[in-house]
Order: sequence, then C-alpha cells, then structure tokens
Amino acid sequence: MKPVEIKKDIFWVGAVDWNSRDFHGYSLSPRGTTYNAFLVKDEKITLFDTVKADFTNELMCSIAQACGSTPRIDYLVVNHLEPDHAGCLDVIVERYHPEKIFCSPMGEKALRSYYHNSQDWPVEVVPTGASISIGKRTVQFIETRMLHWPDNMISYIPEDKIAFSSDAFGQNWASTERFVDEVDSHALDTALGDYYANIVLPYSPVVLKLLDSLPGMNLDIDMLCPDHGLIWRGKEAVAHAFDSYREFALQKPTKKAVIVYDTMWHSTEKMARAICDGLADEGISVRIMSVKHNHHSAIMREVFDAGAVLVGSPTHNNGILPLVADVLTYMKGLRPQNKVAAAFGSFGWSGECVKIITEHLTNMGMEIIEPSVKVKNLPSHETYQACYDLGKKVGQAINAKLSA
Ligand code: FEO
Repeated sequence: MKPVEIKKDIFWVGAVDWNSRDFHGYSLSPRGTTYNAFLVKDEKITLFDTVKADFTNELMCSIAQACGSTPRIDYLVVNHLEPDHAGCLDVIVERYHPEKIFCSPMGEKALRSYYHNSQDWPVEVVPTGASISIGKRTVQFIETRMLHWPDNMISYIPEDKIAFSSDAFGQNWASTERFVDEVDSHALDTALGDYYANIVLPYSPVVLKLLDSLPGMNLDIDMLCPDHGLIWRGKEAVAHAFDSYREFALQKPTKKAVIVYDTMWHSTEKMARAICDGLADEGISVRIMSVKHNHHSAIMREVFDAGAVLVGSPTHNNGILPLVADVLTYMKGLRPQNKVAAAFGSFGWSGECVKIITEHLTNMGMEIIEPSVKVKNLPSHETYQACYDLGKKVGQAINAKLSA
C-alpha cells in the first residue's frame, strides 16, 4: 500500500498482510494483520521499526514515495526485534546506511544475536529516560520490558504528541483503513481482546505497572501507533486503548464459563453438556468448546475473560487426549488469573484423566471445585446428575466470587 501521512511529515510506511492466519506461528489471525513502520521527515529522516522480511520491497517502495526525490534513512529506531518488525534490518541497513540505529539495552542483545554480522552497525543504546534530537523534534524512549519481549520499547515524540508502542495496543487487522475511528468499534474491541489474550496476557502485571507509571511521565499522547493493526487517533481513542488494557490486565472474573473438552466415543462430550446445564441454571453464560473444532487461541480468547474453566478428556494410554494437553499447555503459558476450575472425563480401564487435568489446573493456580466427575465407558443417569451438580457448584462459586 501507499504511504499514509498520519501527521504532518509523519508517514505510515508499513505493510498489510492480508493472508496472515497463523500469527507468530501459534495464534489465529482471521482478519490478517499489518506490520506497521513509521517514517518521520525531519532534519534526520527517522524510521521507526521495519516489517516482516517478506514485505521488505513494499517497505522500501513506501519509504521512496514518502521521502520524495532521494530516499534516505538517517536514523533507525528499533522498538522491537521480533522478526515481524526487524526481519529485514540487514537489508535496510545495507540499503540506506543509517548514521545511527537506536534500540533498548535488551534490544541490543537481541539485535546482536539475530544479526551476527552487525559488529559494524552504528548501534546506540537508549534506555528509559534517554532522548535524541532529530531536528525540530525530539524522541524520548521508554523501555517496556516483557511487553511482550525483553527488548520492547515505546518511542514518544512530544512535539507531535505521538507514541510508537511496538506490540502493545495492537490488533491483528488487515484493512485499507489506518485509524481505529474508521472501522466498527465492536469488531475492533474484539480484535484488541483477541490479541491481548494470546500475546500480552502473561505480562498483565507489566501492563498495570506501565499504565500506573504513565501519569508520572507527563506524556501527552493524542496518537498511539502500535506495530500491528490500526492507529489510535485522538485522546479519546488513546484513553480507550489504555482503559481496555487495564481492564484486560485486571482479569476480573465474569459470569461466564468455558467448557473445553475432547471426546472419543462421545461420553465426555455428553458430560460436558450436562455440566453446561448446571452452570446455565446458575445464570452463567457458557461456551462449550471442542478442541477438535476450536483452535487453542480461540479457546484462550474465551477463557481469558471467563470466571471458570472446566476441562474434560477421556483417558487415553494412561494420559489425556493430545489436543487437550495442547490447550492446557498453551493456557498455562498465558497465565490466566482469577479462575475457578473443574475436571471431568471418561475412561475404559485405568482412568487417570481427571487426576491429570486437575494437576494441570492446580499448577495454573486455579481454584478447583470438587468433586470432579469421572465415568467408566458410558454416562449413566447418576453420572449426568453428578455432572449437572458439578456445573451448579462451579456456577455458585463464580457467583460467590462476584458478590464478595
Ligand atoms: Fe509483532 Fe513481538 O512482534
């Protein structure tokens, strides 16, 4: 796409990846995504971040169009080293020979380990509090370690009230529009939540720390530019991005439960439905999600703002079915908080399923609701009653937490 002037002499020069469906190799991106890069035309022409290597030519084409006569990059700011933003650094450095390359202290470590030929690159480390002049403008740097990699940082230009926030506040959203106010706000909020649940969630304490520290930094931001998706334009939109992240990071329980299961001969599936009835009778909104029909990132999107997660599997070879293990592994890494949980499942002879699932859920710090339900071969009337009662009990636990 052509460059877009987002403020006077500041251009979006990124790329739209319409075909991305497997973001970072582990998370769904059904709307595609963008790799945002920004060019500021001042005495020093400064490029903030680059794009995934597949889109290098598009980036260079946009730089040429934005620069006019003779394309050049004097300063290169690398807010994040993950390859979707820095995968073409070597080509850009070789092509434009920037005078200086700025990155965070952890960014330098990442840069050296990604680019083994970078010894001669003019790298300058800019920790939190550092600032540089690029002519009429200054750029201030704020490290945002583990949001979501050690090297991430935010670059802020006070003269334009604009911040480049790397992955934070991004969404997977491919479109011809560049600003959040140009698209449906509900769909945007959903995309923002999808991204948070699958990328940022484990680092929620870092998010809260950053949001709490912002007022003391006296930043006056009226445009917030993440490295993925749409740009937050105007103070109201920026406040919405910050408020949404605070709400996400707090992970307050809601009247919602997610039942995640796999099944062989439908016994565990039938149990899931009976549990659902018990939850619904307590006024809980339930999502039943078969791991065969729902990708782990779609499941995690529902788990992240739920009050409870219930997991079921048949016993298989003294363990649990592999897709259930996949979801539990993925979920553990994302560290969801404030959940009640329960386990259920069926078995033919050995019956370890419930014990194994309970161990996973306990290791995630979830509050386990007992008794779990386990059935040999086929559920009976008594099994369904036990499942219904488990659903009721989990529902009551959610309600008790919400009214505490
Ligand atoms: Fe979008 Fe952490 O890369």
